[in-house]
Amino acid sequence: MSAESPLIQSLRTAVAAAPQDVPLRLHLAQLLLDAGAADAAVAEAAVALQHAPGDAQARALMARAMGVPAPGPATTAPASSTPAPASSTPAPQRGFDWKAAEEQIGDAVPPRFVEPEAPLTEDGSGDPGDAAAWDVEVPGAVRLADVGGLQEVKDRLEAAFLAPLRNPELRRLYGKSLRGGLLLYGPPGCGKTFVARAVAGELGAKFLSVSVNDVLDMWIGNSERNIHEVFETARRQAPCVVFLDELDALGGKRSRTHSSGMRNTVNQLLTELDGVDAAANEGVFVLGATNVPWDVDLALRRPGRFDRTLLVLPPDAPAREAILRHHLRDRPIENVDLGKLVKLTEGFSGADLAHLCESAAESALLDSARTGTVRMIGMKDLLGAAKQLTPSTEPWFASARNVALYANEGGQYDDLVAYLKRKRRL
Ligand SMILES: Nc1ncnc2c1ncn2[C@@H]1O[C@H](COP(=O)(O)OP(=O)(O)OP(=O)(O)O)[C@@H](O)[C@H]1O
Ligand SMILES: [Mg+2]
Repeated sequence: MSAESPLIQSLRTAVAAAPQDVPLRLHLAQLLLDAGAADAAVAEAAVALQHAPGDAQARALMARAMGVPAPGPATTAPASSTPAPASSTPAPQRGFDWKAAEEQIGDAVPPRFVEPEAPLTEDGSGDPGDAAAWDVEVPGAVRLADVGGLQEVKDRLEAAFLAPLRNPELRRLYGKSLRGGLLLYGPPGCGKTFVARAVAGELGAKFLSVSVNDVLDMWIGNSERNIHEVFETARRQAPCVVFLDELDALGGKRSRTHSSGMRNTVNQLLTELDGVDAAANEGVFVLGATNVPWDVDLALRRPGRFDRTLLVLPPDAPAREAILRHHLRDRPIENVDLGKLVKLTEGFSGADLAHLCESAAESALLDSARTGTVRMIGMKDLLGAAKQLTPSTEPWFASARNVALYANEGGQYDDLVAYLKRKRRL
């Protein structure tokens, strides 16, 4: 190719001096593209996308530089569905949806800034008067059938929770024993929230998910009010599953609030829970979740409260296959040997597996951008990503082992003990 124009040369110097400046780099990429240097334009656009994955201009420029019709209204798709005649200029046929791939890589790269969850007040403490809005999800999106593998978990859920609720006869028979909630526990990222949502789906109930950390408020009395509002919302929306995530936050060990205030908060929750079998609470089902059940306030674990526990373990082989299949579903892949990946990912959590698929997609896309030749996500990318990752559940099992050894009072962690023995960790 001929020497670059002086304008391009000086822009290159400017970009080298300010490598983070995305608009500047995009300007350079556009000039390169106009000058017919598509590969160089792709390289610049790729760097811009690394800095600003969501930047629409960068994406559009990348698409143009790759010779893919630009997304959006500018697309020159023929109105009729008849295929273009063979004599017309061949549209670059690359075999997969570049735009979708770009969108996925947008997800793979973390946002550059963390957005505050609530607007901060001047002193940065958050607005104490701002009543939290509790989002209620409509039923049906996820069912137990969507939960891959984990047959034991499903069987226990069916027997201990769903069957009695589905069947009014059984429900009457069980009577009191249906009070209280079910506590899901296990290592992080292994599907507690997912399973809870599936339970709501099975019951045809709405799903109100709250992190106990969000309920806690530094202002005295506000936490109690928040808890009450959560349950009031659920009662209004019944049938509704209330999912209390991070229940251990009420345990006092890692509390943000003063301990006497925490007592009141626990008591408020007990009041709401104890009311769950009263007529007013018909159709309100309570599920809790925690990674550290041994830190959950003992008052909450007493009979009639969160007395039943369900261990949600790292996905077994069928679950891993389902999770991998799910995350690769819409991605441009070729020759992926799921069996091999499943074998290699023993101990990986669902979140680890999602991360693995994202990393593989990222490596294939960056590679495509670098070389200017689009290629699919293959085993090379997935195996590479798997090698980079270690199962995030390991530290959890280290502390769970101690609990199983020294704190299994009343056999409350028998499930855990059995699992650790099966895995020869005990
Ligand atoms: N058995 C499964 N089948 C299908 N997908 C699963 C399964 N287990 C986990 N996942 C996926 O893994 C992801 C992580 O699961 P989830 O958020 O429910 O974990 P968690 O136990 O609630 O984690 P945390 O402790 O971080 O709250 C979910 O997005 C879900 O899609
Ligand atoms: Mg969760």
